[in-house]
Amino acid sequence: MSETGKPKGHDAPITLTTLARMKQAGERIACLTAYDAAFAGVLEAAGVEVLLVGDSLGMVVQGHDSTLPVGVDDMVYHAAAVARGSRRALRVVDLPFLSYATPERALTSAGRLMRAGGAHMVKLEGGREQAEVVHRLTECGVPVCGHLGLLPQSIHRLGGYRVQGREPEAARRLREDARLLEEAGAGLLVLECVPAALAREISRALTLPVIGIGAGPDCDGQVLVLYDLIGISPGRRPRFSKDFLSGESSVAAAVSAYVRAVKSGGFPGPEHTYT
Ligand code: KIV
Repeated sequence: MSETGKPKGHDAPITLTTLARMKQAGERIACLTAYDAAFAGVLEAAGVEVLLVGDSLGMVVQGHDSTLPVGVDDMVYHAAAVARGSRRALRVVDLPFLSYATPERALTSAGRLMRAGGAHMVKLEGGREQAEVVHRLTECGVPVCGHLGLLPQSIHRLGGYRVQGREPEAARRLREDARLLEEAGAGLLVLECVPAALAREISRALTLPVIGIGAGPDCDGQVLVLYDLIGISPGRRPRFSKDFLSGESSVAAAVSAYVRAVKSGGFPGPEHTYT
């Protein structure tokens, strides 16, 4: 039995209610990015609860040097492929750069991701400045996942891929942004590249589940870019990531090792964590 009281291997669909119960029970949530049907099936069979169709596909699948060139059509194409390959996992799909610049634009974009792409939830980057968009989407029935910390769509404003929230003022702002997103209706939050202590504080303060990437071991769940986990991402692998394929005999075994490590608290370790 899992801590959520369901027999292991139970194939009921994963919903936000499932994730909320997991958070309450202290059962870690395993999330990975997925961009196609075949990988979606492998990930789901290994017990990954949340498939994130991330706009990181712009870098790892399309070969761009940022996520900015990705459009809604690209996201619909990949989300629909993932939907065809999965039955059980919760599918979260990124709203790409500028596709949610106004509440009405966000509704149109999210509508396409849900209707044509089979998304269960959409993800957007930013804090208080997105509160109105989050509120409008959720009041129209669109579940929203926030994304704080390192925001890849704002890479030119941030000036590079680096840890966020280290200075007291930046940490205070991050805490407030997280609270404002939850108040606006967000049902899930990704925290990227923030010090572990800050991520722990935010995870404990919020009711919604917090999924970390480069945010230490004390979030409610973990996510990685799939291609980092199997060691095929172009360029240098980020410090917070781990190649789970090395030492394993197949992709399926590597993904299972990741799920076990997340559930047991063995990943991320101190070497993957920022202070
Ligand atoms: O696009 C993506 O893959 C993401 C993860 C890095 C969280 O947003």
